[in-house]
Amino acid sequence: MGTDTNYVIQAFLDKRPLVYGHRGSRAYAPMNTIPAFELAIQQGADGIELDVQLSADRELVIIHDFTVDGTTDGTGAVRDLLFAELRELNAAARFSPMAEPLQGHIPHYPFIMIPTLEEVFSLVKDRAPADFIVNVEIKAPYCTASGGFADSDFTNGGTANSDAADNNGIEALVADCIDRYDMARNVIVSSFNPPTLKRFKELKPSIPVGFLVEEASPPYTTTLIDQYLPDIAGKSGHEAWHPRYSMVNPELVAAERNRGRLTQVWTVNDPQLARDLVSWGVTGIITDMPDRIKI
Ligand code: G3P
Ligand code: CA
Repeated sequence: MGTDTNYVIQAFLDKRPLVYGHRGSRAYAPMNTIPAFELAIQQGADGIELDVQLSADRELVIIHDFTVDGTTDGTGAVRDLLFAELRELNAAARFSPMAEPLQGHIPHYPFIMIPTLEEVFSLVKDRAPADFIVNVEIKAPYCTASGGFADSDFTNGGTANSDAADNNGIEALVADCIDRYDMARNVIVSSFNPPTLKRFKELKPSIPVGFLVEEASPPYTTTLIDQYLPDIAGKSGHEAWHPRYSMVNPELVAAERNRGRLTQVWTVNDPQLARDLVSWGVTGIITDMPDRIKI
């Protein structure tokens, strides 16, 4: 491959497994914060996974739920809050460690701001190896069977939030941020929402996208991804399959590879399970505990 090959694609071609810190090193630091991402880098992860949404004034903020209630000391929908309001909230307010790290200890986190995508890219540029990967999940609810949005029809992360997922322009802002930080080789974009992936792919065809699925995903989303991002001339329209690990078996991983697609699974915190999944041909292991998953 050329010298500008995306690092995820290169790992797939080289059959080299990747370990990602899920929302950073989430077991040991408040999820989706700079300390959690820094810790994943320190613990030797190959990359991080994060969740991006838009504030009311269209800043790209890193937070998982559609409301701030679950992780901060505030209340309300992310899309209804101004960036300045979000930055006043404490993203460490509800942190509860899942375990002690294998090395070091968990410090007290009195206050951490919700970070921006720019800040994460800047951290990676400054502190991570050149081939460090950022899996940017564009947080979006499930689409409807026709590719639109149903206010009442999603489970992945909070209350209904139509504009947050339905063509609010987040894909273009993510693409622009990737360009400004020269991160095209380092990024893979994922989403549960096929229209979101299609919109991003139209803007940045060279950046791989991963289709997220979980047991609760409506089956039509799997049909839609093939309609929205079809194979063209034998090349898959989407480069990666990102299922919950419990949905995977060796035959499915092999079938994806035969279609030119890599598989990255979440959330795997058991080292033996991670080794088994890699032996089945899985490329990416997304874990809360990157210090424990060494393959
Ligand atoms: O990207 C993998 C995983 O993070 C998707 O689910 O709910 O943890 O964002 P969730
Ligand atoms: Ca996620």
